[in-house]
Amino acid sequence: MKILGIESSCDETAAAVVEDGRTVLSSVVHTQVAEHELYGGVVPELASRRHVESICGVVKKALRDASLKAEDVDAVAVTAAPGLIGAVLVGVNFAKGLALSCGKPLIPVHHIRGHVAANYVAHPDLKPPFLALIVSGGHSHIVAVRDYCDYEILGRTTDDAAGEAFDKAARSVGLSYPGGVKLDKISHEGNPEAYPLPTPHTEGEFNFSFSGLKTAVINLAHNAEQKGERLVPEDLAASFCKKVSGILWEKTEKAASRYGFDKIVLAGGVSANSWLRAEAEERSAARGWSLYLPPLSLTGDNAVMIAAQGYYEAQAGHRGDMTLNGFPYMEITEQF
Ligand code: KG4
Ligand code: ZN
Repeated sequence: MKILGIESSCDETAAAVVEDGRTVLSSVVHTQVAEHELYGGVVPELASRRHVESICGVVKKALRDASLKAEDVDAVAVTAAPGLIGAVLVGVNFAKGLALSCGKPLIPVHHIRGHVAANYVAHPDLKPPFLALIVSGGHSHIVAVRDYCDYEILGRTTDDAAGEAFDKAARSVGLSYPGGVKLDKISHEGNPEAYPLPTPHTEGEFNFSFSGLKTAVINLAHNAEQKGERLVPEDLAASFCKKVSGILWEKTEKAASRYGFDKIVLAGGVSANSWLRAEAEERSAARGWSLYLPPLSLTGDNAVMIAAQGYYEAQAGHRGDMTLNGFPYMEITEQF
């Protein structure tokens, strides 16, 4: 079953064709990041307009690269939640038009389910059940993935998402949006013990909280400024990466032990973080657990993951119709 996936929930316009949820036939990602960088973050109105301009070309290229016509695919899958609503609606309406004109089924996909599904493409042996740590610019979740479309949220952030925290810490040492990857890059020239950062207290054993860490970094920067000094970006980066990856993995490990999982999956933009990957690799090996990491090409937003999850949604009989709407918020456990 060949599925055309479409993604437009934030600042990437993407389309891909994936066969049977596992084999990538094509993948096109058009990123708007350079434009949003000028404003220090994603400007929703601009994002929507850029999606409108590029979606047709992106989808055409994905079909051409797969040597297919729109009539040749078996279904059209699209991110319908969560995300910037104006941006989501561009993809949803394009997908509705395409599915209607070609007489193909329409499959709405939850963006975060998609991030998990990126791992199905990378790891042909991976099947639920497993425990997933899903960390992106908008989400930080520990989720029991019981089946391809069956989830239980075990823990979540009570304030900022992990990616948001990385981006804000990066900004405090002068790195432009999106700073997470830049912070990661310079961290390897820094001393991870240079700046002591607090371990946040959270209600709920498997929940996260990152706003206190963000404040701690801002205070460090202010204190340094008042003394006429500057934070050493590499040292701050190393200290922050070590702290956050430690917190993320520790809670994941606790949840895995409590709920009896020995198969762990990382997903989302922050799963590209080299400290988190190293920590997860080392500590899961020490416990004899199987760890699945998405390749760096699939950690950020893309349409391969939407087409992959779309296949499993289709297998479960999930369909959208011409009344399909987009939604800014939706739990991973909810069904369209
Ligand atoms: O999953 P994603 O591409 O978009 C959302 O669905 O939100 O995640 C983007 C987030 C951004 O906050 C970005 O700074 C962060 O992932 N990120 C990283 C790294 N690469 C991307 N954070 C830390 N280290 C990285 N290497
Ligand atoms: Zn995402």
